[in-house]
Amino acid sequence: MGKIIAIHSYKGGTGKTLFSVNLATTFALKGKKACLLDMDFRAPSLHAIFKVNNVECWLNDYLNGTCTIQKALVDLSEISGGKGKLLVGLANPSTEAIRDMSAKDRKWEMRALGRLLSLRNSVLDEMGMDYLIFDTSPGLQYSSINAIVSADLVFVISTIDASDVQGTKRMLCELYDLFEKKTYIILNKVLMDISSKRGKEELSERLGNTHTLPIFEIVPCFCDILKAGGTYIVAKEKPQHFFSKMLCHMTEKINHL
Ligand SMILES: Nc1ncnc2c1ncn2[C@@H]1O[C@H](COP(=O)(O)OP(=O)(O)OP(=O)(O)O)[C@@H](O)[C@H]1O
Ligand SMILES: [Mg+2]
Repeated sequence: MGKIIAIHSYKGGTGKTLFSVNLATTFALKGKKACLLDMDFRAPSLHAIFKVNNVECWLNDYLNGTCTIQKALVDLSEISGGKGKLLVGLANPSTEAIRDMSAKDRKWEMRALGRLLSLRNSVLDEMGMDYLIFDTSPGLQYSSINAIVSADLVFVISTIDASDVQGTKRMLCELYDLFEKKTYIILNKVLMDISSKRGKEELSERLGNTHTLPIFEIVPCFCDILKAGGTYIVAKEKPQHFFSKMLCHMTEKINHL
């Protein structure tokens, strides 16, 4: 049975897209069938990362009810060298589409939720995909809440900035728990050396009550990844990179959640 994973955060720029893309790619490289959807309609990014500009249909069209989900998916399986499958649904990056999506009313959002919920049947059961991953907008956007409601697991990517940690803690109590979602925190861009006792203490002091938080992984800030700025997919281009190895380990852990 397949799993639906939503990648979310309180603040912007925490690493959701980096994790979504590399998680989906790692699954495909391991021979799994992964489907990744760009649910960040305010600032689409997957078209730029995967360098795809011409598509028959956008994910926007699927949510508008004007095409099937199959038509809105681009097959990028070649990334896995024939080992697995990677299908990607892109959000339309045109200014007009971004404005259009931000003006949707509640009735539209309810219908969009219905279409997202039906993906369990179409993408996981009928198409036989192993994982469906949603890359979302930060905060309490309707599209992100819909993605969370539709998911089995939620990964919240947080930096150690005080405002991010506070917002993440608040969402744990007031959002994910409310929907009874299995939620895990990935602390990203961590600059402390957590292999040392002092580094661990510093991190603990910063977070307060670390033991009460469902921390899944603590990921350092990698200068080369920051410098690359999303111009290549680390898991694919640099399989020996510590980040790629962490991703491999995460995919194993996700299998057992
Ligand atoms: N652990 C890390 N080390 C170095 N750079 C990182 C790390 N995580 C993310 N980045 C970089 O930080 C920037 C923001 O990451 P990303 O776009 O994935 O964030 P996001 O949460 O998707 O942002 P948004 O909320 O705008 O969608 C990117 O340039 C990315 O490569
Ligand atoms: Mg993003």
